[in-house]
Amino acid sequence: MSGAAVRPTLPADDLPGGRAPAVVAPPSLPDAARAAAPSAERPPVVLDVQDLRTFFFTYEGVVRALDGVSFQLRHGETTGLVGETGCGKSVTALSISRLVPDPPGRIFGGKILLGSVDLLHGLASEATFQQTKGSRRIRIRRSFRRIRAANARMEAVRGRRIAMIFQEPSQALNPVFSIANQVGEILFLHHGPAIIDAMFAATPQAPGVGPALEAVVAAGQGRDRLALRAAADALGAAAHSSRLATEAFYLGQGTAGASVQRRQLQDAVRRLRLGRGHRRYLAHRKRLAVLREQLNQVHLAELGGDRTVGPQARRLARRRFRERLTHCYYGIVGVARWARGPLDRELFWRVVRSLEGVRIANPSQVARGYPHELSGGMIQRVMIAMALSGEPDVLLADEPTTALDVTIQAQILELLEDLRRRVGTAILLITHDLAVVAEVADRVCVMYAGQIIEQAAVRDLFERPLHPYTQGLLASVPRIDQPEKSLKGIGGYVPDLIAPPSGCRFHPRCPHAMPVCKVNKPPTTDEGAEHTVACYLYHGPVVGK
Ligand SMILES: Nc1ncnc2c1ncn2[C@@H]1O[C@H](COP(=O)(O)OP(=O)(O)OP(=O)(O)O)[C@@H](O)[C@H]1O
Ligand code: SF4
Ligand SMILES: [Mg+2]
Repeated sequence: MSGAAVRPTLPADDLPGGRAPAVVAPPSLPDAARAAAPSAERPPVVLDVQDLRTFFFTYEGVVRALDGVSFQLRHGETTGLVGETGCGKSVTALSISRLVPDPPGRIFGGKILLGSVDLLHGLASEATFQQTKGSRRIRIRRSFRRIRAANARMEAVRGRRIAMIFQEPSQALNPVFSIANQVGEILFLHHGPAIIDAMFAATPQAPGVGPALEAVVAAGQGRDRLALRAAADALGAAAHSSRLATEAFYLGQGTAGASVQRRQLQDAVRRLRLGRGHRRYLAHRKRLAVLREQLNQVHLAELGGDRTVGPQARRLARRRFRERLTHCYYGIVGVARWARGPLDRELFWRVVRSLEGVRIANPSQVARGYPHELSGGMIQRVMIAMALSGEPDVLLADEPTTALDVTIQAQILELLEDLRRRVGTAILLITHDLAVVAEVADRVCVMYAGQIIEQAAVRDLFERPLHPYTQGLLASVPRIDQPEKSLKGIGGYVPDLIAPPSGCRFHPRCPHAMPVCKVNKPPTTDEGAEHTVACYLYHGPVVGK
């Protein structure tokens, strides 16, 4: 077949559906009023997305879902990403965590820098694109070996460094596993060796355990939650087990009489003791978890461009395989269930604790339940508990509050805010709701048809929206302080991204469109106070194509 190889480094306009650039001089317009306020010292950049291009290769043609998206997330800052439906907000988040469904999607070019690590390292070698002569068809030859290697490398990043709350959280949970199972797996993935060390360190026979247990029974019978929490924590501390503290608290809350409660608590304490078989199983799981951690470090080094670590990665992978093979009897269902017992119990009560952290009522019952038994707000919180468990550097929250009632919305935003303050996580908050952005974001990126057309500090954007699209978005929000003002929508629709409009993609809907807008893509210019915009109405220094 005749065809020309298209490399991801080529301009996107070389693909079918793109437009050949023509040169038309920009009009000479008066300068827009610029805020010259000097920006305060900003926190360091955690994630730097540069010229990201993600396309979907469909039968109808190439959907240019992201076409040159650039923005930065900074430590401890929340950045809102807003735009109409179909603008590419979710694809942006999926591309950053490299979860774009492939096929039909593929990241075509750009950089995603997480610190010094480029998450798109080796992208060009994963696939080649061939455009058949005289046809709009693109043939993609994927190297599945390289794609598998890239996925393995991303496992070192997902969860720990970058976590995601999906737009459809119910679809992100597996319907056949309990909540405890799914959240527990994530907890073990992030903290496996530490959890097993804590299990080995538990001391159920310590002298203080007996009196502390009696104190829990007394507090439980007294129905005083605060006293019960303190007594349960004291029991946990006496036995060196945080799991026991949580379990004792929930046992103490039960309606059973003192003697039954005492027996239940004694059983819980006794279950901290590990038999020889269980110890061997835990040691095996710890070895596997440590090897995975080491492998993750090697993968991070590979993403950072270190080519010398390949043999080390292969050695570690072989050691993990040998470890699994030597203890393959743990794969037998009955053996595994018996061996896993203490670890499952430990994880269950840790899950209950983390569900408490996201303020789920009755967390022990929710942990035993399945996704279909939970309401939308609860599933959203479970997703947040999973995202928080890794204390990530970056959290991509795709419409975390859509479809929730306002009180639940407020609680979920509060949880995100708490994570931002406590851990310094950089949050990308994707939403349609400009009121939410105004409330919680530090900066805002406005997206239109696969491109970011304006970026600014939240206050600046609301006070001084520059791009006609941003002005349209803001004009369509009801204002409580201006009840007499009628709402103005933006006429028309988001364009088809298979054949987007030439030049400025907003021109068919823009009330200020000029001849140049129809031909050339407007460059991104700096309009002062870290406010950038891509529109020919402005003439600041150019900062992007
Ligand atoms: N699997 C897919 N196959 C083909 N096109 C896709 C696929 N997923 C997304 N797209 C296209 O990518 C573009 C961006 O979609 P995306 O889901 O990111 O929009 P969005 O801004 O998140 O919208 P919403 O606000 O409705 O969630 C859309 O034109 C969509 O049709
Ligand atoms: S938004 Fe686009 S079409 Fe409108 S004036 Fe700016 S560049 Fe031209
Ligand atoms: Mg979306």
